[in-house]
Amino acid sequence: MTPDAVAEWPADPDPTATSVYVHVPFCVVKCGYCDFNSFTPEQAARQTGAPSADPGSALDRFLDALHIELDLVPLPPGACSVFFGGGTPTFLDPDRLRRLFAITGRRLDLRGRSEVTMEANPESVTPEKAQLMRDAGVNRVSLGAQSFDDRYLRFLDRAHDAERTRTAFRVLRDAGFRNISLDLMFSIPGQTMAEWESDLRAALELEPDHLSCYNLTYELGTRLTRDRQQGRVTANSDELDRAMFERTREILAAAGFTAYETSNFAGGGGPCRHNDHYWLQGNYLGLGPGASDHRDGVRSTNLKPLGAWADSLERGLRPTASAETLTLRQRAAEALWLGLRRTAGVDTAAIAERLGFDIDREFAPAVAKLIGQDLVERRGSRLLLTPFGQLFGNTVGEEFLGT
Ligand SMILES: C[S@@+](CC[C@H](N)C(=O)[O-])C[C@H]1O[C@@H](n2cnc3c(N)ncnc32)[C@H](O)[C@@H]1O
Ligand code: SF4
Repeated sequence: MTPDAVAEWPADPDPTATSVYVHVPFCVVKCGYCDFNSFTPEQAARQTGAPSADPGSALDRFLDALHIELDLVPLPPGACSVFFGGGTPTFLDPDRLRRLFAITGRRLDLRGRSEVTMEANPESVTPEKAQLMRDAGVNRVSLGAQSFDDRYLRFLDRAHDAERTRTAFRVLRDAGFRNISLDLMFSIPGQTMAEWESDLRAALELEPDHLSCYNLTYELGTRLTRDRQQGRVTANSDELDRAMFERTREILAAAGFTAYETSNFAGGGGPCRHNDHYWLQGNYLGLGPGASDHRDGVRSTNLKPLGAWADSLERGLRPTASAETLTLRQRAAEALWLGLRRTAGVDTAAIAERLGFDIDREFAPAVAKLIGQDLVERRGSRLLLTPFGQLFGNTVGEEFLGT
């Protein structure tokens, strides 16, 4: 697909649509590179003061509190997509997974949605859970492969090897999933270009319908970052990061995938509509610890610790940690920051109409500076990252956040 064809994808969020995100915060191990709000049930039990001998109690407390949260929030009649993310939603055992679907299905018609995604980790995908997911209405699975090299999987603390990923993929296909995405990470310390190319080839052999390829980042507070700071781990060079990013695009384009966002590639399953709605600054509702919400410029975030989030709900209160109403200027800056990640870029005329904010006039100096640095280009009413700008992903759009 040509870049112009990509530009035909939505330029503005559907104002009538709200997507729903459900955060399941549990994982079998906490990976050393990960700063998502996720923990093992044992960590959760310690946090909440529950008996550590019964980590299952943390899972049940989560499900009970989610049940209350779904009763407290105003649910959109026509949620365009639902995304069960984490953490690891497939970490739940079949009975608890069934309960998760019963709780959410009571208020959200999962079977009537165009896209219902669930994140899955290879070690916890079984035929029984895959069937439960299908029966509940999940029609897209994002499987965390990360690498197909067992040495790097061990380095990353992953609980699976490459063969387990292949098995999980087959189990999902056999259960009838026609839209399976794989998550991969590149520039793992020590990883060479040849090793990354081999990971991409291994992923393509499975014939996934979508791929997410993330440059490994060193997040504050993670063990990986501490190891790097203390000299136990050496990060790859920025040059190798960029070369791997470019090579990813070449290999995946040759395999028929469309780069519709900095890290995301659509194959037969098309783009992830849930994430695309988010990058278009659409409205979304977040459920679960640490999840965020956005409605027409009002943004709020739930309490992150499982105990604090559940405590609040058990007292009948929404578990909001923080909320802010964005100014029009902030909304426009955010639209640029989010939207520049999309290959189709940002339609500034559409934003002027939607927000009544003239980006071309108000942000003229910042736009001119980025165009001058060959990071951004203008095509009609759109601003897009140049191929050079794409190498810097997020950081180009950040230029607008402080303006
Ligand atoms: C919500 S996370 C985890 C999903 C799932 N639990 C898993 O581990 O496969 C979604 C994706 O973010 C990516 N990710 C997490 N931490 C990262 C980091 N520090 N740098 C780059 N990508 C990261 C991983 O590819 C991961 O699959
Ligand atoms: S399994 Fe996924 S969410 Fe859990 S710690 Fe690892 S990367 Fe993070």
